[in-house]
Amino acid sequence: MFEKLLSENSKWIDAVWVKLDEKLSLVTLRSRDKLPYTSVDGVHDDGKESPLNWTNGFWGGLNWLMYIGTGKECYKITAETSEKLLDKAFFSMQDWHHDVGFMWHLTSGVNYRLTENLSSKNRNLIAAMSLMSRYNVSGDYIRCWNDGTWGEKVAGWSIIDCMMNIPILYWASKEIGDSRFSKIAMRHADMTMRDHVREDGSVNHIVVHDTESPRVLGVRKGQGYSENSCWSRGASWALYGFVLSYIHTKEQRYLDTAIKVADYFIKETQKTNWLPRLDFRQPDNPLYYDSTAGAIASCGLIELAKVLGECAGEKYIESAINILRAMEENWCSWEDSQDSILQMGSLMYTSQIHVPFIYGDYFLVEAMLKLKGNEFLPW
Ligand code: GLY
Repeated sequence: MFEKLLSENSKWIDAVWVKLDEKLSLVTLRSRDKLPYTSVDGVHDDGKESPLNWTNGFWGGLNWLMYIGTGKECYKITAETSEKLLDKAFFSMQDWHHDVGFMWHLTSGVNYRLTENLSSKNRNLIAAMSLMSRYNVSGDYIRCWNDGTWGEKVAGWSIIDCMMNIPILYWASKEIGDSRFSKIAMRHADMTMRDHVREDGSVNHIVVHDTESPRVLGVRKGQGYSENSCWSRGASWALYGFVLSYIHTKEQRYLDTAIKVADYFIKETQKTNWLPRLDFRQPDNPLYYDSTAGAIASCGLIELAKVLGECAGEKYIESAINILRAMEENWCSWEDSQDSILQMGSLMYTSQIHVPFIYGDYFLVEAMLKLKGNEFLPW
């Protein structure tokens, strides 16, 4: 599929893959015992002391992908080490949140699928059960955070990011033959389609629900510019998340939603030469970007293209290549001395602007592995 486009770009794809492997085969040794979140003065920090940080699974996940792409043992060892470091989180289960999908599905979930390791299967099942238990039956949504996370009561909050956590539920359903998991995932995806995705394909980050009925009480700004704007990473979570819900369920409505969000994302990103802004409705000044949104969206666009096939899919894989090429040219650091690769990530409109994040590197690697033709889907 997409042979012409991929062969036109094959030199670039191969060159980027070689650079990824050259750099990461050094970094994987340096950061083997860490759970990185960002890097400070070029060096990965270490989130081991905050076992519940939502980003703690990306370093292990990235190493699994490099192992899949190269077969090199050094990546497998780091991935396994990383998974074990996450075990500390099992001692504070009352504080778990909805990001258990990001944390375990990319580490334990992938380990189990590659090696049939039973401890990894159990870790992933516990994570799936925990996520399922966050479903609010009256309000019909999966609760994201716990009270106090933002200094307030958040029992009624759902967030767009959760679309990337629910694939662990589809996996658990299949794995143990229990449809409750996927039914709850689909209830949440249907709510997200209805309450988070707007008519033009932009998205709300936070929706506040009545905890006792299916009534929506309002929306909140979250990590974007304002409550009516569109946080680009939120849009990328929705884009990729709906493609994944379609892949796991084959429900046309999820594919239609993924296309709607993808078209909006592409239209907005084209305006800034394929480099995604932090928020698509932020003021022109200051011009904040977010590379992580570009990396996540690229993965979603490539999977969307594959689902749609040769003709209808062309535009989506071409857009992914445009984003990745623009980001590689402008925002990647290939120096061995720097632990992070993709720079210019942004946490939110009000803090941590233009810094590298481990999830940026994770999704960059996932996108390049896909462009190299590898069919492994970690989600
Ligand atoms: N899931 C949190 C974030 O995207 O920043």
